[in-house]
This record gives sequence, C-alpha cells and structure tokens, in this order.
Amino acid sequence: MTTSAGMTSIRTSEGRIEIINQLLLPHTTEWVAVDTIEEAFDAIKSMKIRGAPAIASLAALTVSSHLSKALKDDPAPQFVLSPEALKSYIEPILNYLPTARPTAVNLGAAIRRLTKTLNNSISEKKDARTITQDLIAEGVAIDGEDVARNKQMSKWGGEWLVEEVKKRGGEGDRLNVMTVCNTGSLATSGYGTALGLITYLHETGRLETAFFTQSTPYHQGSRLTALELLTLKIPSVMLCDSMVGSLFQHKGISGIAVGADRIARNGDTANKVGTYNAAVLAARHNIPFIVVAPISTVDLDIEDGSQIPIEHRPPLEARLVRGALYPFKVDAQGVKEQATVMVTPEDLEGVYNPSFDVTPADLITAIVTEKGVAVKTEGSKVFDLSNIV
Ligand code: MRU
Repeated sequence: MTTSAGMTSIRTSEGRIEIINQLLLPHTTEWVAVDTIEEAFDAIKSMKIRGAPAIASLAALTVSSHLSKALKDDPAPQFVLSPEALKSYIEPILNYLPTARPTAVNLGAAIRRLTKTLNNSISEKKDARTITQDLIAEGVAIDGEDVARNKQMSKWGGEWLVEEVKKRGGEGDRLNVMTVCNTGSLATSGYGTALGLITYLHETGRLETAFFTQSTPYHQGSRLTALELLTLKIPSVMLCDSMVGSLFQHKGISGIAVGADRIARNGDTANKVGTYNAAVLAARHNIPFIVVAPISTVDLDIEDGSQIPIEHRPPLEARLVRGALYPFKVDAQGVKEQATVMVTPEDLEGVYNPSFDVTPADLITAIVTEKGVAVKTEGSKVFDLSNIV
C-alpha cells in the first residue's frame, strides 16, 4: 500500500497558527496568521477555512494558543488568579466561537470538550494556572486526534464499500466513486473523511476514478477537491452539479461517499447543498450512498434532520464566481491575477442560498465513523446511532 501526502489546512509553529486562505485556492497559496480569537472567528465565518473538522480544529487550537500566550505574560493576566476568574474569562470566548457557523456540529463539540475540561478541572480543585494548562492540552488534542480517526474511518468505509459492491454483483476491484464538496485534508486536520475513503481505495489499488461535483456556489469541488486529487495523483473527473443524474446513467458509478456537518440520532445527515440530490438519484440507480464522518459530527440531542439548523450564506455569494483571470495574467513573481465576477444581473434580488441540505436516513446506505460502519436494521428506514457514540 502506498500512502499519499496530502495538503494541509492549518500549520502551527511555536504556538503560532497559520491557515491556508481557501478563498484564493487553487491558484494562490497564501498562508494567513490567526493570532486572536476574533481572527479565528472571522476566518471561519468568511470561509477562509471551512469543512466541519477543520473549523473545529482551528477553534480549539486558537483557544490553546490564546491561553498559552497569556500564561507567558508578565504580569500574569487577572484570569489566572482564580478558577472563578478563569471561568468568567474563558466562557464568553467558548460561547462565541461556535456562532461563526451554525450547522457544523464539530465546532460546538470541540467547544463542549473544552467546557467539560474546564468544569472537571475546577471540580478537582486545581489552581487556575493548572486548569489553563489542561485547556491548552485539550485544544491541541482535539486537533491532533483528527488524522488517525480519518484514516481509521476511511479504511472501514473503503473495505465496506468493496464488499457491498460485490454483494450487489460487482467485482469490487476497480471502483468509480463520486463525492460532493471537499472533505479532504483541507477540510480536516489531514487525510480527510469521504475523500479519505477515496484516497484509501486509491492507495490499495481499488479505485478506478474519483468523480466530484463542482459544488457551487462556493466551488469546494472544482477549486479544492480538484486540487487535492491532483496533488495526490488520484485519477479524477469533475462534473457540474446538474450532471449527477447523467453520470449515474452512463458511467458505472460504484458508490457515493460524502462527509457530514451534522448527523441526527436517526441518521438524517446535513451536508453540502446538493448532497440530497445525489442521494435521491443514487437510490433510483441502486448505488450505495455512504456518509463518512467522525463521531463528533453525530448530534444525539437532535432526533431527526428537521431540527438541524441550516446556515444560509449571504445572497451575494451565489451571484459571484471567484478565480484566476483567464487567459492567465501572471505577474513577475509568477502569481496569477485573481478576479471576482458577478454572473447575475446587477439588480437581481431573489436568491436562495442554503449552504447545506439534509439527506434523510432512508436514502443513506451506511454511516461510517472511527468506531465502525453503521447500517440500518432490516426493514428500518432510520439508523439508531445512540449506541455508537
Ligand atoms: O461550507 P463548507 O465548505 O464548510 O461545507 C463543508 C461540507 O459540507 C463538508 O462536506 C463537511 O463539512 C465534511 S468535511 C470533512
């Protein structure tokens, strides 16, 4: 098995955090420093960084780095004087960060973990400095755990898909897998979830071609997944979002693997808008439809998809396309000139722009987490995820 080196969305050095500005990819690689809580919030909200696990990692790392810097201050900040002072200082920060994007529950889950660490350390009667160090360690751990679990779920999901294809009468040796949005290294701390599954099949010699939708209006597919697949040298083909039905009719698709921003207890799954369309068509064509996501994406407090808050992005974002001017205009440093163009009439007012849709559990064949592969019991239209979390 060959392992491929992927891209990186976040890098840290001596407590300093930098992210790739995903708004400028694939033509310009710009690393942006994230030095404050506000900068992390803005980077997440403006989608300089995006993807449910990646934004959770950035939030957790930013809290860690913020507290590490404060601990080095001389004189020490007020909040390290007592656990109560620390609690009243840090809680508003922890409450603020998840409001940057409401659908991706991983962000809230990361913050809940930090809150739990805070409360546990307080109840263990630790001093404020030790509690601060516990929070710093927890933030770093949240980011650090992501890659290993991505590799684990990619393997579970890849092996499961091969067997499922065989069960349905296929060979299972050369699979065509379609995905939506971007779920690779740029959307996580590394390797990816659904794109991780595709990478795993490639590494083990069982992928024919990865197909991916453009995923308009933000173009996570055409800008980011395209770049990741090229970097990994994985054979790939892009399609416009409107071409999924045609693809399923003509290209012998073996499976669809998508990520998730929030999964309800019954398996209903919020993911990038367009995922539901693909799931309806997959059911029509009897193609296995797999959701690949860490346990932190499962929200047991939510019974079904109707309760998942769906983020609507600003209407303007759906009217604009951002990219490099073409034919390319390259400056002396070799940098391609970027442009944002409006593709609608200037006066257009009505725009429907949800960032996510919800795929009902009955259209999902399997949900893969780091704990394993969940399927529905015979005759049931929904999953019971309460026992896997
Ligand atoms: O709006 P985005 O780009 O943050 O949406 C991302 C997705 O919908 C991904 O599929 C999901 O977060 C899973 S990322 C591993």
